[in-house]
Amino acid sequence: MIIGLPAALEYAERNGIGLAAINTPFFEGLLGVIDVAERTDVPVILQFAQVHESIVAIEDMGPAMVELARRSSAPFVLHVDHGFDIDYIRKGLDIGFTSAMIDGSKLAYDENVRVTREVVELAAERGAGVEGEIGVMTGNENGDPDQGVADAALYTDPQAAADFVRATGVTALAASFGTVHGVYRRKPKLNYELITRLREATGVPIVMHGGSGLEPQEYQECIRHGVRKINYYTYSAKAAYDACPPLVEDPDVILFSDLARAARRAVEEDAQRFIDVLRATA
Ligand code: 13P
Repeated sequence: MIIGLPAALEYAERNGIGLAAINTPFFEGLLGVIDVAERTDVPVILQFAQVHESIVAIEDMGPAMVELARRSSAPFVLHVDHGFDIDYIRKGLDIGFTSAMIDGSKLAYDENVRVTREVVELAAERGAGVEGEIGVMTGNENGDPDQGVADAALYTDPQAAADFVRATGVTALAASFGTVHGVYRRKPKLNYELITRLREATGVPIVMHGGSGLEPQEYQECIRHGVRKINYYTYSAKAAYDACPPLVEDPDVILFSDLARAARRAVEEDAQRFIDVLRATA
């Protein structure tokens, strides 16, 4: 079943848990995450990021995501992740996505407000929720191993965040408080107190980007301080990758479909672990 972002966030808020928001730009990953959602009683956010156009087009993967979610007994939000322009987000909403992130974080503040407002207006016509971003997070969403490190000077300022949410009307806010996208080269230092201040100043749920690679207690502490949506890609895609070498070495395995099956199972196991950590705070 497909639900909206506000309904999913309200569920998370009521139960004091975090929601897994997993990017699924390959079919085995999508099937693996859906398998977990069907035996787990929490909403799951299926995401497609604009940068993943280099893997598969949203026109190809999006309809599969929407149709599998629609048929499933589990509740799913379908979310366009890191949309950089309104046309791309419109394309996702036309396909049937119920939520979108407009990433104006690299724009000047006024321009970020302008494009985010435009997306909020578009989404309101379709009954969709919007995530905005303010503050700078290094790294990218492509699992690039050469990632940046969190720089406290780039963390989100609570006053600017409050102004931004008031000016744009976003449903949730992606903020910078110590995580980076991709693999950590150095142990991140999360600023939990900043999450509390952001949550209180803005009045909306806080979104963690760069959700791969933290310790279970770190996710849980972030949730206790006001994070409700945790974006996750690198470790899910890496779990699928790590399942392949033993099969490639095996002379009896000659079909790609055997790798695909192993990748699906690996994503499933990884997603189950991840979701269990995020709902243990209930
Ligand atoms: P990771 O790839 O670090 O898990 O981050 C994913 C993300 O934030 C997608 O928006």
